[in-house]
Amino acid sequence: MTLDMDFVESQFPALEHRDYVYFDNAGGSLVLDCVARRIQDHLLTSSVQHGATYTKSQIAMERLFEAQESVAQLVNARRPEEIIMGPSTSALLRTLSTMLSSRLRPRDEIIISEVEHEANAGAWLLLEKLGVNIRFWPLDRDTMELSTQTLAGLLNDRTKLVCVTHVSNILGTINPVREFADVVHAHGARICVDAVAYAPHRLIDVQAFDADYYVFSFYKAYGPHHAALVGRFDDLLELPGINHFFVAEDEIPYKFQPGNVNYELSYGCIGISDYLIEMAKHHGAEGDSERGHLAHACDVIAEQEQKLSKRLLDYLKSLPSVTIIGDARHDASVRVPTISFAVAGLDSRAIVEQIDPHDIGIRYGDFYAVRLIDAFGLAPQNGVVRVSMVHYNTLAEVDKLIEKLEPVLNRHTL
Ligand SMILES: Cc1ncc(COP(=O)(O)O)c(C=O)c1O
Repeated sequence: MTLDMDFVESQFPALEHRDYVYFDNAGGSLVLDCVARRIQDHLLTSSVQHGATYTKSQIAMERLFEAQESVAQLVNARRPEEIIMGPSTSALLRTLSTMLSSRLRPRDEIIISEVEHEANAGAWLLLEKLGVNIRFWPLDRDTMELSTQTLAGLLNDRTKLVCVTHVSNILGTINPVREFADVVHAHGARICVDAVAYAPHRLIDVQAFDADYYVFSFYKAYGPHHAALVGRFDDLLELPGINHFFVAEDEIPYKFQPGNVNYELSYGCIGISDYLIEMAKHHGAEGDSERGHLAHACDVIAEQEQKLSKRLLDYLKSLPSVTIIGDARHDASVRVPTISFAVAGLDSRAIVEQIDPHDIGIRYGDFYAVRLIDAFGLAPQNGVVRVSMVHYNTLAEVDKLIEKLEPVLNRHTL
């Protein structure tokens, strides 16, 4: 079903005038009105410390639990306690690495994909000091895919963890995480999925993905600077906490949230599900299953995104000097509309700086996926140019970008 852009624009105050083309969404998305309102409401009416017997404190605690329930529904967790919140994906992965370090022994192995953002690499490389061996899982350069077969060849009985992104913030390809998880689990290891670049685009279902640890940031998914790590309750129960010594082992997620979480941002995140459910109703969703509504909204989003990907990829593919860094197919089942490219003989920074004056926000660089950029030998030309779109972008905006790119790129034919 075609996305009603009037509905979408009414939900994002920053879209009111459409006076700026915002294509840096994988850096951070625009924020929903309903999210900002919840944050404001919490700060102005309920910002008191939890854990007391007075009514306001009880209400504030209920709101935090409501937020956990909402995120649990958004990701299809088994129970709200499986949601650990924190300031960022990078910080939560550092926390996870500390938690898991107690289980690791010298010569144990961790596999990290070559395409990771440093958040899901650096946290694990820290464990080398315990004698843990890190093995890198290379991208297949011909298919631009992380292949399950290559992964299977790296796994052995010393492998304890595999760290992989659901979608690379450069390639945009949707990885088959369930397929990866099945192979990983068959070897008795666990899988840690960075879903930061996936969450703004498609339905999350941690049970269907069978992910042991699944992490993403709300500020890339229409919410505030806040993040969630989803684990499995039984596993979280066994893992040592990082909170004060008197916080009991069954106080989940509190034992993983020293100093506790940001209450107002957690409460604000409920707005993301509210938006998606409203979007589904507005676009003809039937029944009263909220998960069903979330799935419906994500289908509408995917359809819009596919149109955007097609328009930009068709243009880029028509230029012989351009290499798309990622799968060049536009299908919503294959990719999200995070599109990166490099141009023969042209510095990526120079391209972006010629687009900046036109009030179009695109970006160049390595996007903290330094191994991937090095594998492509793109560091000397300032990495890739990245155009990262989401459903609220329009074809007219893509056309405006193409119009401004045309003189920059067409001057450079091979
Ligand atoms: C794929 C990916 N993973 C992880 C991160 C880090 O997220 P955070 O800024 O919440 O630490 C980013 C941020 O750009 C990202 O794009």
